[in-house]
Amino acid sequence: MRRYSRIAGTGSYLPPRRLTNADLAAELAARDVETSDDWIVERTGIRARHFAAPDVCSSDLGFEAAKKALQAAGRSASEIDLIIVATSTPDMVFPSTACILQHKLAQSSDDARGIAGCPAFDVQAVCSGFVYALSVADAMIQTGAANRALVIGAEVFSRILDFTDRTTCVLFGDGAGAVVLEASDTPGILASDLHADGKHVGILCVPGNVSGGQVIGSPLLTMDGQAVFKLAVGVLEDAARATLAKANLTDADIDWLIPHQANIRIMQSTAKKLKLPLSKLIVTVDQHGNTSAASIPLALDASVRSGKIKTGDTLMLEGVGGGFTWGAVLLTL
Ligand code: ACO
Repeated sequence: MRRYSRIAGTGSYLPPRRLTNADLAAELAARDVETSDDWIVERTGIRARHFAAPDVCSSDLGFEAAKKALQAAGRSASEIDLIIVATSTPDMVFPSTACILQHKLAQSSDDARGIAGCPAFDVQAVCSGFVYALSVADAMIQTGAANRALVIGAEVFSRILDFTDRTTCVLFGDGAGAVVLEASDTPGILASDLHADGKHVGILCVPGNVSGGQVIGSPLLTMDGQAVFKLAVGVLEDAARATLAKANLTDADIDWLIPHQANIRIMQSTAKKLKLPLSKLIVTVDQHGNTSAASIPLALDASVRSGKIKTGDTLMLEGVGGGFTWGAVLLTL
């Protein structure tokens, strides 16, 4: 009998500080940076985002999301045998945020035996990070290398924003989402399709690095928005079609499209290309902004908890981001 992986529970967490576009515009005005709610809503669909407090890290947000996913799955931390964290805003250069989060989960658990020794690592694929991490966890479960994984997307993008650059700082937010993915006799994950093309490194990056005790180059996000937009629209359609073909399914089999929540125009254009009505498009970018690797599991969890997405629905998750990276995971919940 074939071994599959299946999502057993979802969770998410947003830091409490919420800024509407008007709140952010007021803060930016104090720095002589001009923007408006109208401009942000019209170009991106974003109305609000959450920013973490200065002492809160990705592992803290991921920890809260993971606890909720475990609770939803009816599992304890001791039953987890793999942790993968997708993040581009890790707590430290090393060790991985996954190791830090593992320790927090172990400390909070009555029985830490399982989780304390399990493999834990980060995946770095920027806004495609969650679909990369989910695909890796699925492969490890299919081969028997793991039985029950925590797959987490967690970001504090507010830390790497240049608040004097209005073309980028209005787009992003902080948050985390998580799923418990476990072995199953029935799917589950039906197919996935991952890609990267490093020739586009320069259009979306944080080019700085640490050397000799100093940050060399800029530690802040820089982006060619129009180049990103054009690339994203094309690759999201290709990845969805390739994933459907691998599963022998068609556009019509998709109940819900959950694309990376970067920009409503990119998301709507992808839905149209896949001939999906906009009613099948999950949208949380309006309330969360772009939370990079956290955006898909945040959108998934919000839709599961609101009752919109139900057990048995077929979901197309799609990521696209810096690298350039892109990919899709098709699954039955
Ligand atoms: N507020 C007010 N005006 C602004 C702002 C702002 N926040 N930002 C830019 N402008 C101005 C520009 O200065 C420019 O003014 P000018 O004509 O006087 O020079 C004008 O608005 C138009 O600027 P453009 O850059 O041409 O605006 P565009 O329509 O391309 O929209 C945007 C910019 C929203 C970034 C768009 O290119 C986009 O969505 N790109 C995709 C990028 C993205 O989603 N990135 C997320 C990370 S990658 C990922 O997750 C896939």
